[in-house]
Amino acid sequence: EEQRLAYRERIKTLLRERDAVLVAHYYTDPEIQSLAEETGGCVSDSLEMARFGKDHPASTLIVAGVKFMGETAKILSPEKRVFMPTLEATCSLDIGCPEQEFSDFCDQHPDRTVVVYANTSAAVKARADWVVTSSIAVELIEHLDRNGEKILWAPDKHLGSYVRDKAGADVLCWDGACIVHEEFKAQGVLDLKKAYPDAAVLVHPESPASVVEIADVVGSTSQLIKAACEMDNDAFIVATDKGIFYKMQQLAPEKTFLEAPTAGSGATCRSCAHCPWMAMNGLQNMVAVLEDDNGMGQEIFVDPVLAEKAMVPLNRMLDFGQ
Ligand code: 13P
Ligand code: SF4
Repeated sequence: EEQRLAYRERIKTLLRERDAVLVAHYYTDPEIQSLAEETGGCVSDSLEMARFGKDHPASTLIVAGVKFMGETAKILSPEKRVFMPTLEATCSLDIGCPEQEFSDFCDQHPDRTVVVYANTSAAVKARADWVVTSSIAVELIEHLDRNGEKILWAPDKHLGSYVRDKAGADVLCWDGACIVHEEFKAQGVLDLKKAYPDAAVLVHPESPASVVEIADVVGSTSQLIKAACEMDNDAFIVATDKGIFYKMQQLAPEKTFLEAPTAGSGATCRSCAHCPWMAMNGLQNMVAVLEDDNGMGQEIFVDPVLAEKAMVPLNRMLDFGQ
């Protein structure tokens, strides 16, 4: 406990000394989220993280999340230095969508508008017409569909089929998935609902269609938190990374938040509703990054040619999301 508090104080001092601000995602550990709050940083969904990083005057961003979030921050603010507690923090969607295969897929469908989820590498974004996050995916696909455009969507197949159904658009999907959300099971949610009949079901759209179907609200992390605050229900069954409970409990302490059941538990569960890469962001590696004067080990660099290309669909995303 003493060590923990010492780390927190050290980080606060170093953030000031290095003109740095902490940009954290709702899936990081409560320790990291509270530190971001206390130091004037942000805790938010991936779209708001991108916006905050771009607009903030600090010369250095410490991104606590996964690699695509650090890359997005760097692409949108090439003049800032961007660090992460560890560059090892990746994402199964990013891993499952390699640049060359994706580029070949696009070449096979030249008539389609290419829309990629933010959870992708800079190289994949550079090949895209649009980047989106879950908070604006349906609106964007509806907009493109109204213009008569056919869509090529990557990499999350669950989010892809959700937006296809919602917008009634022609969407061809890449076959990727999030290892955390893919584990949620509709039957488990229905069983839990028997014990809590008044509970509302909040679901992130990276979950399988069978879980999305029984949701009361489907949305990005920020949208789910908003729903938890605004809805009258006393209890909520939440199908997304359990990191989100920190903010839900903070904003609605009188309500009960229940984890949606996953396929397995213990050794049989690969992720148990917590992203293993998000969990890599800790106090100790954050101190190390801030203390290292060069910080070169954990600094984000994006090839300038790719960055220039990827900046176009990323800025489109920010403009569309206004
Ligand atoms: P949002 O915060 O945009 O809902 O994204 C969820 C996610 O999977 C980030 O890893
Ligand atoms: Fe990727 Fe899923 Fe982890 Fe989000 S929760 S970073 S989508 S693996």
